[in-house]
This record gives sequence, structure tokens and C-alpha cells, in this order.
Amino acid sequence: MERKRILAVNTGTHTSKPNIHPSIIRLEHVGKDFTTESGKRIAVLDDINLDIKTGQLVTVVGATGTGKTTLLNLIASICKADQGRITLNKTLNICNEIAYVFQHYTLLPWQNVLKNVAFGLQLRKIPIRQRNDDAMKLIDKVGLAGFEKAYPHELSGGMRQRAAIAQALAIKPKLLLMDEPFGSLDDTTRTELQRMLIDLHRQTQTTTIFVTHNIDEAIILADRIVVLAQRPAVIQQDITIDLPRPRNRTSRQFTDIYLKIRNMITTKEVIE
Ligand SMILES: Nc1ncnc2c1ncn2[C@@H]1O[C@H](COP(=O)(O)OP(=O)(O)OP(=O)(O)O)[C@@H](O)[C@H]1O
Ligand SMILES: [Mg+2]
Repeated sequence: MERKRILAVNTGTHTSKPNIHPSIIRLEHVGKDFTTESGKRIAVLDDINLDIKTGQLVTVVGATGTGKTTLLNLIASICKADQGRITLNKTLNICNEIAYVFQHYTLLPWQNVLKNVAFGLQLRKIPIRQRNDDAMKLIDKVGLAGFEKAYPHELSGGMRQRAAIAQALAIKPKLLLMDEPFGSLDDTTRTELQRMLIDLHRQTQTTTIFVTHNIDEAIILADRIVVLAQRPAVIQQDITIDLPRPRNRTSRQFTDIYLKIRNMITTKEVIE
């Protein structure tokens, strides 16, 4: 089997016509294997084909262990694909323009909220005054005004995730990767942060790939849902969600999509 990965810089539009939604990242026939400690090779992802368009809010949903984090790590170039090809839009700078909110809290514990949010700007050598101004605006936007001097251990889980989102957005990423960022929060806080994320996306139009195993969350947030299932995981379905916002969880259409996805994920688990 061909084993190669090309992280290239030559995509986007292939026609001379203006394209209002060019691809920001494209995965073609991507596969990923891991070798376990005992030397056994396990295939995690198989023949993944995805074309993410600029500005989309895409959720990736799948049961635990399906390969969702692995997929984000491939996109972020944290690990390499064993098969297929990943192509970035030529305008996307992989070092500076991809932000990643990891599955577990990633704030620097020895820095306060302001310094955490401004951290990426500091690395980019933005003058202190400007980076503090930018960081304060974002702290306000994510609802943490008044907590800029607080340290991560002084914040609730929801507040830490607000700070982590502000930190990710501070660098004005072209691509925002989020790995179950609300997974450890209670329902009320989770709903609040989902609303906040939808608002921020409406304002910034940042292309976002959001991983969750919560189907309800996937439907609330997404323009498009990618359903991963099976082992090795394949894309079971790629669904465009055009329900009006704010979305009504009790509507017939919402429930239909929910059940469709749940059946897809559950059926595959039972077959395993
Ligand atoms: N570095 C690694 N070495 C070996 N196996 C790995 C490695 N990383 C992930 N895996 C395996 O790949 C599979 C997919 O892992 P991954 O973390 O991508 O799943 P996930 O869908 O994100 O799960 P969760 O919902 O629990 O976060 C799992 O079986 C895991 O054990
Ligand atoms: Mg994961």
C-alpha cells in the first residue's frame, strides 16, 4: 500500500472563477496506524476524505476511541498520516495560523488569565501594550472581564475553557481546532459556552473543526457534521446542517438528525 503524506501548499481554488468558499484543508484517502507497546499494528483511520471550506464550523462526532483526536492531530501536523494526502490552502501558515484547544486544560498555571490569553501574541513579539489591549478585548468577549488577574487554579472549569478559547482566538487563527473543549463541564455551563462559541464564530467567521462525542452538541453547533464510526474509523456520513439558529433541541428535524447519527454510531459499535 502506498505510504506517503504530502503536506503541500498548492491548493485552494483550481479554477480561474472566484470561489467564495475555497478549501482551507483537504484530506484525500488519509489513513493512520499506530503500533502498540506490544508491537501490534492497529489501523485507526481509513480512507478519510474531507474538504473543509473557509468559514465553516464543522463538528466531528464519534464514540470514544474512534480516532477523533488523531484526526485533529493529523490536521495540525502533530502526527503524520500513513496513507493519503493532506493539502493546506496556500494562504494558511501552519506555524502561525492554526490554533488548537486541546482535550485537557492547557493554560499555563503560573500565568494569570491576561498573560495566558496574550501568550501567543507575546511569542509573535507584539508590543506589550497592543497585546494586552487585544487580550483584554477577548477576555471581555468570552465573559471573563474582572478575572484577568486570576490564575487558572482560581477559576472554575467553565472559566478556564473560556480563557483557553480566548487564548486560541488571540492569534486570529485561520483554522481553529477544538478537541472536546466542553467535555468536562456541567450541562448549564456547556450550553452557555456553546452559545458563546456560536456568537464568536458568527463574528469572526474563523474556520473551526470541533470534536465531540456528544451528538446534541454536534448538531447545536455545526454547519456540517462529520460522523466517524467503525474500526478503523471511516466517515460514515458528512451531513450539512441548515437548521435555523438558535436551534430548537425539541424540533422534529433536530430529533431526526440526532437519531440518525446515534443509530450510525451505535450500530457500528454493536457490530464490533
Ligand atoms: N500514540 C498512540 N500510540 C498508540 N495508539 C494510539 C496513540 N494515539 C491514539 N492511539 C489509539 O488510537 C485510537 C484512537 O485514539 P483517539 O485518541 O484518536 O480517539 P478519540 O476518538 O479521540 O477518543 P476519545 O473520545 O476517548 O478522546 C485509540 O484506540 C487509541 O488507543
Ligand atoms: Mg480524543
